[in-house]
Amino acid sequence: MSRNGLAAAFAATAVVLLGLACTAAAAAVTLQTGRSLIPVGGGSPVLYNATRDTAITTQYIDAWNNMNGITYLWGSTAPDFTYGLGEASPYNPAEKFRTLLRFDDAHSYVPADAVVQSAELTVTFINYNFDPVLVQACFMTRPWAYQGGPSYKTVGWAFSGWDGSASVPWTQPGAWADCSPNVNISFVLPSNGAYGYVSQTIALDPASVQAWLPSNGSANYGLLFR
Ligand SMILES: *[C@@H]1O[C@H](CO)[C@@H](O)[C@H](O)[C@H]1NC(C)=O
Ligand SMILES: *[C@@H]1O[C@H](CO)[C@@H](O)[C@H](O)[C@H]1NC(C)=O
Ligand SMILES: *[C@@H]1O[C@H](CO)[C@@H](O)[C@H](O)[C@H]1NC(C)=O
Repeated sequence: MSRNGLAAAFAATAVVLLGLACTAAAAAVTLQTGRSLIPVGGGSPVLYNATRDTAITTQYIDAWNNMNGITYLWGSTAPDFTYGLGEASPYNPAEKFRTLLRFDDAHSYVPADAVVQSAELTVTFINYNFDPVLVQACFMTRPWAYQGGPSYKTVGWAFSGWDGSASVPWTQPGAWADCSPNVNISFVLPSNGAYGYVSQTIALDPASVQAWLPSNGSANYGLLFR
């Protein structure tokens, strides 16, 4: 069973299909941890290791954790690296679990003059329930931390991160208000009562993925799932 959730993000792959502005050539770039990718400037292949994910939750949310809940950071759910996902945990309907996901350094592998023609994201979920689950996602509009900081003061239900001296609050707890309403992604995740694992490939808005590339990826904020 996934950690306290209806379904869990498990492994993610983004495929960005490109048209190069100055040539007729089309190309595809696949961002997945562990893949070897040729950098934009050429040279030797580099091991891509910049998939960033974090789960924010209302689990045990209370004054002692600054109303930030329990956050599952990179590596904290080893060895399976799953996160809970759902707006109501089966164990406690008041608990919400959301997952932030981004592909850092995409700009290092996709040329700045490339036109993103299409993009898709493949995520493996675990759904042992016998009911399908509605999953929603959206493109984040601000940065967020994906790893440690002072306990209960960095990324979580209340905060997007820690700026070195203070917590940076989300616009509203739960981060959904910091997600663009311009593109709403939703899909119904089937169940797999026998094995749990369900892979889903989701089309991503090309213009929103294009916005991950300029200025060395300074607006590459990724996605939020709920
Ligand atoms: C990939 O990144 C993680 C987290 O930063 C690190 O712990 C791990 O050692 C890296 N793996 C490789 C093969 O560089
Ligand atoms: C996305 O959802 C929000 C909130 O439900 C809504 O205000 C917005 O119009 C939707 N956007 C699109 C493009 O449908
Ligand atoms: C991107 O980073 C490179 C290498 O650090 C730097 O030379 C370049 O000026 C940066 N470009 C932008 C637009 O920030």
